Order: sequence, then C-alpha cells, then structure tokens
Amino acid sequence: MIEFRQVNFSIEGKQIIKNVSFCISNGDSRVIMGHSGSGKSTILRLILGLACPDSGEILIDDENICGMKSKRLREIRKRIGMVFQDGALFDSLTVGENVGYYPLEYSKFKLEEIEGKVRQMLGFVGLSDEIIDHLPDQLSGGMQRRVAIGRALLSTDPKIMLYDEPTTGLDPRMTENVISLINRLREVKHVTSIVVTHQISDAFEMSDKFIIIDNGEVAFDGDVVQLRASDEARVVEFLRPFRDSVANVKKIDFA
Ligand SMILES: Nc1ncnc2c1ncn2[C@@H]1O[C@H](COP(=O)(O)OP(=O)(O)OP(=O)(O)O)[C@@H](O)[C@H]1O
Ligand SMILES: [Mg+2]
Repeated sequence: MIEFRQVNFSIEGKQIIKNVSFCISNGDSRVIMGHSGSGKSTILRLILGLACPDSGEILIDDENICGMKSKRLREIRKRIGMVFQDGALFDSLTVGENVGYYPLEYSKFKLEEIEGKVRQMLGFVGLSDEIIDHLPDQLSGGMQRRVAIGRALLSTDPKIMLYDEPTTGLDPRMTENVISLINRLREVKHVTSIVVTHQISDAFEMSDKFIIIDNGEVAFDGDVVQLRASDEARVVEFLRPFRDSVANVKKIDFA
C-alpha cells in the first residue's frame, strides 16, 4: 500500500508538491498524468525516500517513511522497483551486467546462479538471451526499457513497481510490448504499480484508475467513468487535446 497524507514538498523555497493525498492498495495500479513540470517524477522520488517532504506523511505498507532511519528505509526500498524516465542503464556495462547488477553487487549467489537468473529474466521481459553481452547502445530504445524493467525486477522481488514514462519515445510495437509487460507483472506477480505517462492512450491500457497532477496539486483521482464525467476546469483543460481517446476508451476488465 502506498499512501500520501497531505504531503508538501519544496525545493529551494519553491513549492513543488502541494497538499497531495492519495492511497493505492496492494496489487492495485494508478497512472499519474499531468503537464511537464507538474511534479510527477518528484512524487516517485518521494515514494523512494530520495527526498523528504516538508510536511505530511508518506506511508508504505502503513509505515511512515518520512524521517525514518536510513537502515529501515533501505529495507523498505527493497520492496520497490523503479524504472527511471530515461531508462538509466549503465552504459559501460553489458546487458547481463545491467540486469544482474543488484545480485552481482549485493547478493551472495554464485556467478553461474546469477547468470541463470539473468537469462531467465531476459526471457520474462521478452528479450533473447543472445543479447546478454551487448552494450546498451547496441539496443533499441524499447529493448533498453525492457532491460531496465528486468534490472528493477532482479533488484529484489519488488512488491511495488514505479515506472516513469515507460513508453515515451517508443514505436507503437515496442510500446505495446512494454505495456503488456507492465500489465503481466501486475497480473502474475500482483505488484502494486504506479505509471507516470504523458501518453493518454497508453494510460488507458495500463490502469483503470488515474491521478492528474496540476502544478503540484491533485486535480483528479478516480476511474475512467469519473474522468469522463469530470467538469473540474483543470481536468477538462488537460484532457481537451485527447478528447477522442477519452471518449473511445472501452471499459477494460483489469480483474
Ligand atoms: N533538483 C531540482 N532543483 C530545482 N527544481 C527542481 C528539481 N527537480 C525538480 N524541480 C522542479 O520541480 C518541478 C516538478 O518537476 P518534476 O520532475 O517532478 O516534473 P514532471 O511532472 O516529472 O515533469 P516531466 O513530465 O517533464 O518529466 C519542476 O518545476 C522542476 O523544475
Ligand atoms: Mg518527469
């Protein structure tokens, strides 16, 4: 469970997150949308405990992580996998070293065991293990994104996955691949997920619940039916360019 209770956060005197509250139950998902600079990535950083709010509470499985001792925070972070906005692979490490980075650095598994896990993970994210010795710049953007997802999954066995713009810059086929991987993770591993995206059409394929952040505030938190019905000015303004996708979205069965 991830819960924000009246969270405020500022950087250099500028308030970035304003009185934000929401709650995501275990196994549930939320897509966070909003204009560039509205504070979406900052919300993910706060969940990871990479930044500390000025006031309010951030609860992960009922524990407030704000002001928590770093040892306990590290333990909680182990439950969270993160796929960063730019994929953020280590350029000079091979695909195998990237995916196996955390067990290679932090576990006591033998090298052969880790290699086995890495090959299995590459299969899970839909990549051939023939690319295990390739460097990231030899891969397409979509493949890099899957390597990043594989690395997040092998970092621990995450109960929570955070994705920052996972489909941005991908062609339609790769987008579909990454979306189905995100959905499969929720269905097979029952991970709680938050996906930040600009792509409204993708948003509807990844969740049936949405948060719209506007200038650091929650302008909307609800499902697609409520989204369509909303007459809140900031929601209407945000959705205007996407009217057709919102009108056409079918009720998807996420159960
Ligand atoms: N380290 C920082 N120093 C100063 N300002 C920052 C810093 N990080 C973020 N900000 C500011 O905080 C605001 C929110 O940034 P954030 O990265 O969360 O936006 P975003 O919604 O993820 O945008 P995008 O869609 O472009 O990724 C922006 O105004 C940004 O300029
Ligand atoms: Mg961002």
